[in-house]
Amino acid sequence: MANDKEERLQKVIAQAGIASRRAAEKLILEGRVAVNGQQISKLGTKVTSADEVKVDGVPLDGSEKKVYYLLNKPRGVVTTASDDKGRQTVVDLLTDVDARVYPVGRLDYDTTGALIMTNDGDLANQLMHPKGKVDKVYTAKVKGVANMADLAPLKRGIVLNGKKTAPARVAIEKVDQDRKVSFITMTIHEGRNHQVKDMLQKVGYPVEKLRRDRYAFLDLLGLQAGDYRDLSHDEVKRLKNGDYRYMRRK
Ligand code: URA
Repeated sequence: MANDKEERLQKVIAQAGIASRRAAEKLILEGRVAVNGQQISKLGTKVTSADEVKVDGVPLDGSEKKVYYLLNKPRGVVTTASDDKGRQTVVDLLTDVDARVYPVGRLDYDTTGALIMTNDGDLANQLMHPKGKVDKVYTAKVKGVANMADLAPLKRGIVLNGKKTAPARVAIEKVDQDRKVSFITMTIHEGRNHQVKDMLQKVGYPVEKLRRDRYAFLDLLGLQAGDYRDLSHDEVKRLKNGDYRYMRRK
C-alpha cells in the first residue's frame, strides 16, 4: 500500500505485487485501475495511503500470497497478461493458478523457453533491473555456416540502435554443412527487445529459431514446452538474495 507520501500510481500497484511497474502502467492505460471509484486511464496520477486503489475491481490490500513459477514458454504465445488481438498469453497457460501472476521480462511470440511468472513485484523489478545482470542463456538456430571470426564482435559488444551491447558469451554448438544452418549459444544479461535476434542478424546470421535455455540458475530440465512448475523455497530465496549462479543439474 502507499504510505502517506504521494507516490506514482504504477509504483503503488507494483509494490502491492500485482504487476511490474511497466505492466502496471499498461494496466492503467487499459483502464483497469480505479482510484476512489474513479477509473484512471492515463499515467501521471499520484496516490497516498488514504486513496483506495482497485485493479480489475479488486482492492490492493497486499494480502495476496506470493507465488513463483517457471514456465517453458511454447512458440505462438504472447508474453503479456492480456492481448488486444485475443492471442493466447503466457498467463493463460498457468491453468491452475488463481493468483494474478505476470511474466518477468519478455520473450518474443516465436521464442520458447524459460520464463519466470510471479505476483511478487519487488522480485520482478529486482530481476529486470539492469544492475542485477541476470545471465540469460539462449540457443539460436541460425541460417548459415557459422564461424567464430564472424561472431567475435558479439563478445566485445556491437552497436544496436545507437547503443553498444554489453559483451556476450558466444559459442558454436553445431554446424550443419548440408543444410547450411548452425546452432549458437549466447549468454547475455541485458534484456533489450529482440536483442539476440538483432545481434546475430547484425553479424550475418539470421535467427530461424530461438530458445531460452536458462534464466539465472533456472534451466528447463524436466519441463516440456507449455509445462510449468513452482519454484522451490530455496530457489526463491536465492533469487531474492541476488545469487543467480548456475550449477549444472543431472
Ligand atoms: N532476444 C530475442 O531476440 N528474442 C527473445 O525472445 C529474447 C531475446
